[in-house]
Amino acid sequence: MNKKVRDHFPSLSRKHNKTELIFLDGPAGTQVPKVVIDSISSYYQKSNANSHGQFITTQETDKLIAATRINVAKFLGAKGGHEISFGQNMTTLNFSLARAIGRTLRPGDEILITQLDHEANRGPWLSLQELDITVREINLNPNGLLDYKDLERKLNERTKLVCIGWASNITGTVNELKKVRKLTYKIGAKMLVDAVHYAAHISMDVKNLGCDYLLCSAYKFYGPHVGILYAKEGLLDQLPTDRLRTADQHAPYSIETGTLNHAAIAGVNAAIDFISTFGKGKDQRTKLKSAMVNIARHEHQLAKKLYTGIKKIRGVKMIGPDFSSTERAPTLSFYTPKLTATEICTALAKENICAWDGHFYAIRATEILGYLDRGGVTRMGISLYTTTDEIARTIKVLNKILK
Ligand SMILES: Cc1ncc(COP(=O)(O)O)c(C=O)c1O
Repeated sequence: MNKKVRDHFPSLSRKHNKTELIFLDGPAGTQVPKVVIDSISSYYQKSNANSHGQFITTQETDKLIAATRINVAKFLGAKGGHEISFGQNMTTLNFSLARAIGRTLRPGDEILITQLDHEANRGPWLSLQELDITVREINLNPNGLLDYKDLERKLNERTKLVCIGWASNITGTVNELKKVRKLTYKIGAKMLVDAVHYAAHISMDVKNLGCDYLLCSAYKFYGPHVGILYAKEGLLDQLPTDRLRTADQHAPYSIETGTLNHAAIAGVNAAIDFISTFGKGKDQRTKLKSAMVNIARHEHQLAKKLYTGIKKIRGVKMIGPDFSSTERAPTLSFYTPKLTATEICTALAKENICAWDGHFYAIRATEILGYLDRGGVTRMGISLYTTTDEIARTIKVLNKILK
């Protein structure tokens, strides 16, 4: 990545105690480039209005939302904007989807979730147990990989839906979704993917993957707080979502309640355009695909360096898969009995290094891996603006803290 990349992000030049901050907190939300901030501000300055009216600003608002759906579709490899819905965040959209899907199921129907997933892709489905829907969970192995044999054992003719993350926000594990998709096709179950962690790091192609639903959140990929739902053409229209009589009853609108955050949607559009500038190609989809390949390459090699550096510190246990495969998100977590994760992150904060401690809502995985009652783990994530110098400094500081 070019050094100039960092100039796009105003927050990267912010100083605290006379030093710049090192942002390794990307998995909880990335920093935001100026073009995205400007697009939000510009919306309020020029086009602020509600939708579906007759005058210029409302018509500009409608156009902006439609254009953003198309841009998101290109980012995800979807057929078109008609498959893209917006919401407050991923969790809220997933709860809405679960409520709607729940109304189409019968007692005894089954849903499979995983022990590795963020609670946002577990809780909404677990809540359907009150309708006598059976919710089973796919086991997590101690190495941070899902137990696919367990998945095969638990899939059966009653399974209607498998809800699985594309990448874990705690271990960086990339799940084998192609394999899962094949198995679900065999029994006619649908597949829902939580791509919140994956979206910032690796190119996505929902058509090629064949998933039925996919959710992500723009604040994890350089945008503002907006949740995004992809629902394969024809699916959302069949769902009895919570909606007002006055709302548009069709996809992609039928799951969107009330007024959307128009200014933030302007920011989502700008964030995707910003990502596309890292790639080459004659159309937006090709540019986005090539951009994500470049971003992945940069992030992977830095994450590998950080992983190798931390692993060498005596008494530190790395959580999840190593970096021998490129099928790995650039996010890593570790544990040491010397200090709790909170103590480590407090010490890092004193050195202006931003990292997260705890379970990051991947609470079931933290519990299964045995760290929940030990204060959780320390997590660091690489973003496109992370530099080799920052990684070297982080390893040095960690060596000092944990010596
Ligand atoms: C993997 C994963 N899934 C879901 C979520 C929830 O996303 P949101 O904050 O948009 O509800 C997060 C947020 O951290 C996440 O990392």
